[in-house]
Amino acid sequence: MKLTGKKELINLILGEIEKRGGISFKEFMDFALYYPSLGYYTSDKEKIGGYGDFFTSSELDPVFGQLLAKQFNEIYEKYFKDKKISLVEVGSGKGLLAYDILNEIKNNYPDFYKNLQFVSIEKSPYHLKSQEELLKGFNVKWYDTLEDVEDLEGIVYSNELFDALPVHLIKKLNSRIYEIYLTKKEDEIVEELRPATKDILDYLKELKIDIPEGMTTEINLIATDLIGKIGQKLKRGFVFTVDYGYPSKELYKPYRMRGTLLCYYKHTYNENYYENVGLQDITSHVNFSALVYYGKKSGLEFTSFTDQAHFLINLGLGDVMMELQEKGDYKSYERLNRLKTLILPKGMGEKFKVLIQHKNVENPDLSGLRILPPQNDRYKI
Ligand SMILES: C[S@@+](CC[C@H](N)C(=O)[O-])C[C@H]1O[C@@H](n2cnc3c(N)ncnc32)[C@H](O)[C@@H]1O
Repeated sequence: MKLTGKKELINLILGEIEKRGGISFKEFMDFALYYPSLGYYTSDKEKIGGYGDFFTSSELDPVFGQLLAKQFNEIYEKYFKDKKISLVEVGSGKGLLAYDILNEIKNNYPDFYKNLQFVSIEKSPYHLKSQEELLKGFNVKWYDTLEDVEDLEGIVYSNELFDALPVHLIKKLNSRIYEIYLTKKEDEIVEELRPATKDILDYLKELKIDIPEGMTTEINLIATDLIGKIGQKLKRGFVFTVDYGYPSKELYKPYRMRGTLLCYYKHTYNENYYENVGLQDITSHVNFSALVYYGKKSGLEFTSFTDQAHFLINLGLGDVMMELQEKGDYKSYERLNRLKTLILPKGMGEKFKVLIQHKNVENPDLSGLRILPPQNDRYKI
């Protein structure tokens, strides 16, 4: 296979493979997405939105951020009233979701706004530039990593962060687990199976995952590390993770023999990870059971696991849609169609899940969780 895409980045990757006699797929993905100024997320290229490669919920309509703000305000009123509270977004991208949330809180929940410190953690310099402009009217602190945040009490949230983290690729053959490495033959790269590391085997053992023979799938150790760090940093409050993925029970079903790794390029998806290197997004589904398990190890308790459709409808999306339906003009109708994408099962409604965890909060009771989806394997953590 030949790597195609950004020449400079490809030469760096090939050089690294040569120097070290091979790199893991995870290291390749890290280069492709995050190599300073050349990786997909670190370079100056529109990624999210109409002129980019994919849409996120906040790009579709402000209502996503407005309803999250409503849920966060409820948390402030019930558990933090009149106290200083932090609201932290990890992987805040262009800052659009943060803008919608902060705008809504500032306009409709002034008491919450008065006590709020917003913190944005984002590692893409390109996205940071956009945020600085967009969020300049709000009280925002920017940090490079979560480690820099002090005395964290409040809410940590992310939208489509965990799916964008570099993953190890593994394969089960003759009952043994191997990791996929990339080596070089002349100018081409070759995938090679090497025995899986202890970290990967421990992950599978701890989570009691036994993947089917022949399956290739992803292991996201950065995700487990990150949720652990969030748990350690948070003294009291909630963690909201919105992303696509499943619990282990569903993720490793035999009909996902090739795993869930996908690339996004100009609003189309493909499985050609070695093409358009540095120019396309590479993502994988999140294992929510892993976030719950490793969160628990660092003090985060499981609150609930639902999908975006149930979560947003519980928070009042139906009323917003009804109003648009009643207006009946062209603009309202167009907006109504966009909002449907947020909740339709084939759109983002069932694909996107919402995991909520909490720490040092007694019997949490949140409006977004009032009605939950049917508890089949897609939802059983
Ligand atoms: C798919 S984008 C989602 C952006 C945004 N949350 C939204 O909803 O539009 C993922 C973002 O996470 C950022 N990111 C990835 N790893 C990160 C980390 N360890 N810390 C902070 N940001 C990270 C990427 O640079 C990228 O901007």
